[in-house]
Amino acid sequence: MKYHLVTFGCQANERDSETIAGLLREIGYERVEEPTQADLILFNTCCVREKAENKVLSRIGELKDLKSQNPHLIIGICGCMVQQEKIVEKIRRRAPHVDLIFGTHNIHELPELVQSIKNLRVPQVHILPDREEIVEGLPSHREFPFKALVNITYGCNNFCTYCIVPYVRGREKSRLPEHILKEISAMSEDGVLEVMLLGQNVNSYGKDLTPPTTFAELLQQVNAIPGLARIRYMTSHPRDFSDELISTIAGLNKVSRHFHLPVQAGSNDILRKMNRGYTREEYLTLVRKIKNTFPEASITTDIIVGFPGESEEDFEDTLKLVEEVRFDSAFTFIYSPRTGTPAAKMPEQIAESVKKSRLQRLMKLQNRISLEINQQLKGKVMEVLVEGESKTSPEMLTGRTDTNKTVIFPGPLSLTGKLVPVKITVPQTWILKGELVEVI
Ligand code: SAH
Ligand code: SF4
Ligand code: F3S
Repeated sequence: MKYHLVTFGCQANERDSETIAGLLREIGYERVEEPTQADLILFNTCCVREKAENKVLSRIGELKDLKSQNPHLIIGICGCMVQQEKIVEKIRRRAPHVDLIFGTHNIHELPELVQSIKNLRVPQVHILPDREEIVEGLPSHREFPFKALVNITYGCNNFCTYCIVPYVRGREKSRLPEHILKEISAMSEDGVLEVMLLGQNVNSYGKDLTPPTTFAELLQQVNAIPGLARIRYMTSHPRDFSDELISTIAGLNKVSRHFHLPVQAGSNDILRKMNRGYTREEYLTLVRKIKNTFPEASITTDIIVGFPGESEEDFEDTLKLVEEVRFDSAFTFIYSPRTGTPAAKMPEQIAESVKKSRLQRLMKLQNRISLEINQQLKGKVMEVLVEGESKTSPEMLTGRTDTNKTVIFPGPLSLTGKLVPVKITVPQTWILKGELVEVI
């Protein structure tokens, strides 16, 4: 039996897809890249912005013909999108050929659900709004043997007013440190060099545990695992990035010097309406502390333009903040109203044309800064974890620096999964081109 799995959204979904792949392998399914060859097609969906959702619905629509040619084909939708209110009816209406719908808290039920569809030939819908306990010990199948995603918390309690994640991913829950450490130790014995610790707000890790623990303590324990070379984490909430955490990271050699700190907006008025819990000044202070402690740090961010009520002046505050911080790069988004979130009901929604032109202005500024920062890396030798052949530049290798910059350079494929020194020769806005210095 063969399955085809398409993943949308963030690393939380990517990690869930690894579990889905692991579960399907246990019941005898093999992965295929072509949907036409599959007996089971699954879409692991995202709904953080409207565009993501429309993409899924149109992709599912395209499968109608495949289903009529092969009535035994199972088509499934899972992930964040299906956790929304009234979405099941919408999917049923727009895509009656879907057989399987399961939520983010029901992934472990997938083998039974597939079996039920095969036995009974009736669609299966399993969606729990939330789950008290974390299901541990599920099988998983990673894309890369040398790097791995590791959940440390699930869900989110922050309720930023624009964001749907807390509604579709449930309340924040921390995994027990012993479960996390056991998983990472096993990965490291398996040859994993880099782990990415995942949570919507990693800085609040452990507050809900008895006895409580902290993200800083967890990092210390992960840093002590032999064999690991790099520890990344995502995402940090600027409000919760403590001085203790900065000084802990300073003492840990494996923790990446990449700081992804989503600022979202540069105006205090908008930050307050977003319920972010910090001011522009507090954010700038945090950035200053990080830059002082880690002169080599790369700092990246997420920014939303066109939040309800964002005036030209508010937007200019964002541009000024970007100039002041000088981010290495930024993910920039047009505000997308999400049903059920407070911001969707706020007055003064911004016209699409204004949002688009603000996004262009912001991107232009950020691209200029990214290039300027990268140009300073010319001639520098950086350690790169090689990921394999570049998709965009064939016959070149691609990898990432500790600071999460993509480096492309010529070299043998046998370096995949290794840490190698690369001299940066041609820095660009999005990537650094380089040449291998020596093979360790
Ligand atoms: N927990 C993480 C990631 C959340 S989703 C965090 O707090 O940073 C990733 C990014 O999507 C967010 O940082 C935000 O910039 C963006 N985003 C979330 N909801 C959005 C919306 N309704 N419209 C546009 N962008 C949004
Ligand atoms: Fe969404 Fe805010 Fe939670 Fe991030 S911290 S997932 S932006 S509610
Ligand atoms: Fe999307 Fe869900 Fe992640 S809504 S951004 S896949 S948590």
